[in-house]
Amino acid sequence: MANPTYAAIDVGTTKVCTVVGEVTPAQELRILGVGIGPSAGLAKGMVDNIQAAIEAIASSVERAERASGTRILSAHVGIAGPHVSSMNSRGIVAIADPRNAIIDGDVQRALESARIVNVPTNREVIHVVPRYYVVDGQDDVVDPVGMFGSRLDVETHVVTASTSAMNNLVQCVEGAGVRVDGLILEPLASAEAVVEVEELEQGAVLCDIGGGTTDIAVFDRGAVVHTAVLPIGGLHMTRDLVVALRVPQPSAELVKREHGHTIPSMVDEDDEVDVDAFGAEGHRTVPRRLMAEVLQARSEELFELVLAEVRRAVQPEVLSAGVILTGGASSLEGIDLLSEDVLQLPARVGRPRHLAGLSDILHDPAYATSVGLLRWALKEREIMFRSSPRPVAPIGGLLRKVAHLMRVVLPQ
Ligand SMILES: Nc1ncnc2c1ncn2[C@@H]1O[C@H](COP(=O)(O)OP(=O)(O)OP(=O)(O)O)[C@@H](O)[C@H]1O
Ligand SMILES: [Mg+2]
Repeated sequence: MANPTYAAIDVGTTKVCTVVGEVTPAQELRILGVGIGPSAGLAKGMVDNIQAAIEAIASSVERAERASGTRILSAHVGIAGPHVSSMNSRGIVAIADPRNAIIDGDVQRALESARIVNVPTNREVIHVVPRYYVVDGQDDVVDPVGMFGSRLDVETHVVTASTSAMNNLVQCVEGAGVRVDGLILEPLASAEAVVEVEELEQGAVLCDIGGGTTDIAVFDRGAVVHTAVLPIGGLHMTRDLVVALRVPQPSAELVKREHGHTIPSMVDEDDEVDVDAFGAEGHRTVPRRLMAEVLQARSEELFELVLAEVRRAVQPEVLSAGVILTGGASSLEGIDLLSEDVLQLPARVGRPRHLAGLSDILHDPAYATSVGLLRWALKEREIMFRSSPRPVAPIGGLLRKVAHLMRVVLPQ
């Protein structure tokens, strides 16, 4: 029998990336094909031109189909944008007969009750991620199934999104001929690809700096405690260079990628680079240090905002494992050092790993979301996400702690 095959689509602000993978009998994720193309019709992570977005998605899907020799009928799709918000919610249920051990059904009921949060009519819940359980007042229970008690509480992280933004995204993917199996919050997907279990346990913040958004997920003691999407990314850095250097956008983008730095003192004072410019001259030389100053200012501002988001959930000092940077803009030189400076936490750049098959191109931080979406898809393979009236999407195989939770949602 053929290995089960899954697809995921990351509809980013700058690129669309479709990945097809299969799970081998040894439970290894093998990449069968990747389709990457420029994005269109998106701003700040949200669709703002349906037709352009459909075409961009269709072209990426087609490339992935050709590369993998498969036909993509459905896929998991990432969602981001400033419309996404999150909160922590507690679900409480009584156990009918405390002489019987707690069963999966009780856990499911507790999760359902946590899902009942005050959501305005124009928003929908997209994730209810269990954090820990409380059985008759006993805190921090990892798996309550099999325990005895008369009351079961679950602490969860609930993510909601604007219904219209979700519908627009689904319409675009379906317009490209692909059914949407599930929408997954992008920072949770990225974390799935690049954050290690030990980092989650010790406390960490995932920071995916893309083109139009910076996606954040904060983890403490193995569980997600906060998620947020900031409407700032690499495109803003490029725009700052356009203004400061007075050069066209494509040449600012190129020079940023090739010669950008975020720590001016690490750039030689006399270092200059040649760039295409406006006007009759056609090109000019610009000091690399000036570029670094511009990129430093924007990145510092960004990390201040990240810090403010982290503080909404925890004291940053408790995040011993520090910051894991990913997304295209995390390739900017010095950005890990700058984030260490602003957040006062250790930082590293995270690239997707543990991939087999045609995966070379995916070992880049820009593809953390795509790979994470695929990992999520295969963890969720037995859930009929769309057909369930109240889907409960667990955070995939990220956490040892959460491994048991899969049983909550996957039929045994
Ligand atoms: N080497 C590099 N140095 C600096 N910036 C880079 C480099 N490579 C890529 N980038 C920037 O990364 C950004 C794109 O990142 P990414 O592919 O993660 O975004 P996206 O997923 O399309 O967008 P979003 O997640 O915001 O919707 C661009 O702004 C690009 O300029
Ligand atoms: Mg992205």
